[in-house]
Amino acid sequence: MSGESTYNPGTGFTQWLDTRLPILRLAHDSFVDYPTPKNLNYWWTFGGILTFCLVTQIITGIILAMHYTPHVDFAFNSVEHIMRDVNYGWLIRYIHANGASMFFIAVYIHMFRGLYYGSYKAPREVLWILGVVIYLLMMAAAFMGYVLPWGQMSLWGATVITNLFGAIPLIGENIAIWLWGGYSVDNPTLNRFFSLHYLIPFLIFGVVILHIWALHVPGNNNPTGISVKSKQDTVPFHPYYTVKDGFALSLFLILFSYFIFFAPNVLGHADNYIQANPLVTPAHIVPEWYLLPFYAILRAVPDKLGGVALMFGAIFVLFLLPWLDTSKVRSARYRPLFRQFYVLFILDCLLLGYLGAQPAEGIYIVLARIGTIYYFAHFLVVLPVLGLVEKPKAIPESISEPVLAAKPAE
Ligand code: HEM
Repeated sequence: MSGESTYNPGTGFTQWLDTRLPILRLAHDSFVDYPTPKNLNYWWTFGGILTFCLVTQIITGIILAMHYTPHVDFAFNSVEHIMRDVNYGWLIRYIHANGASMFFIAVYIHMFRGLYYGSYKAPREVLWILGVVIYLLMMAAAFMGYVLPWGQMSLWGATVITNLFGAIPLIGENIAIWLWGGYSVDNPTLNRFFSLHYLIPFLIFGVVILHIWALHVPGNNNPTGISVKSKQDTVPFHPYYTVKDGFALSLFLILFSYFIFFAPNVLGHADNYIQANPLVTPAHIVPEWYLLPFYAILRAVPDKLGGVALMFGAIFVLFLLPWLDTSKVRSARYRPLFRQFYVLFILDCLLLGYLGAQPAEGIYIVLARIGTIYYFAHFLVVLPVLGLVEKPKAIPESISEPVLAAKPAE
């Protein structure tokens, strides 16, 4: 971690432990005395909120797994058993199901914060890339989790997505059969999805540790994008940011509780309360809201393989972002032109999300094509060109300067 350790073991036991396993020193230097820029705003509280979401999903998931049966004949009923018979089973399930949505709300805010303040730029490229790996793992976990209740959307959502692999030339069909463990989504598929759904959150946990390690080497970015120059620019993480993160988490929990207790099913699809039936296809097969923009991109392309390539490309382009954005200036605060394209990009993502939930026909398809073109143009054309032609605003010398400048002249 950055800087000299300030840890002072106070008791005989902590001294003894420190010379054998300096784990308390690591925790102290990482989360107590860790020097944090003093100007972080509330958008910086979402990393802590995400950590909370991950732990909540793991704990509630483990409890659900104690009562769930990963078999096509029993899965749906075992979920109903959890809802009706298991003590507080309804609560655990609603926390877990809505927790997935809250996790994605938080991760999107966290990512768009990074996009706005240029947190993906040097020296934080690896930190960003690890974030994209986490995001991919989150989507895989959420997709497989949605299959487990074995409702109509579970079966048909899984069928649509796994069939995409069939678009790969020559070997596609074999890959699909290998993934299914048969000739369609069936019991072996449900079984392996359960196994992987249980595994992936622990992989995410491991990558989050690397993510925070990669954060603590260069230290946090901040709303100005100006690198920390001296001790004057920072405050210790505790109590300043533990309190701020705690307050933000409390507000987040109010929203989370609203969904759990007052609208536990609005984010899900009613058809998933109908048991999976391979002989009846639902009228509209839609994924969960957080995957809709990618679903819109998939369906915008008239060719199946092209659609699959663009859908995965839409995520993989994020890996290249640190090198696609050529601007020397990190924060959008000093980039007026970038700011306008940033708003356009957010609107584009919202439009694609809306279109992902509409039938793939008529005007919806036309708009999805325009949205898809802008999505890629933003990364591949706008960001590289903007960095070269944009004239940034005057940037202060240090993050403390605006504060010093505000003091009355002596
Ligand atoms: C399980 C999911 C994740 C967890 C638990 C997590 C955790 C954290 C934490 C604790 C921080 C420091 C506090 C903060 O800046 O908010 C952070 C920073 C950061 N994260 Fe994440 N993160 C996750 C996912 C992601 C994803 C998906 C991305 C991007 C694709 C990402 C990119 C970043 C970046 C660039 C920073 C540095 C922020 C800055 O200092 O400006 N993270 N993350």
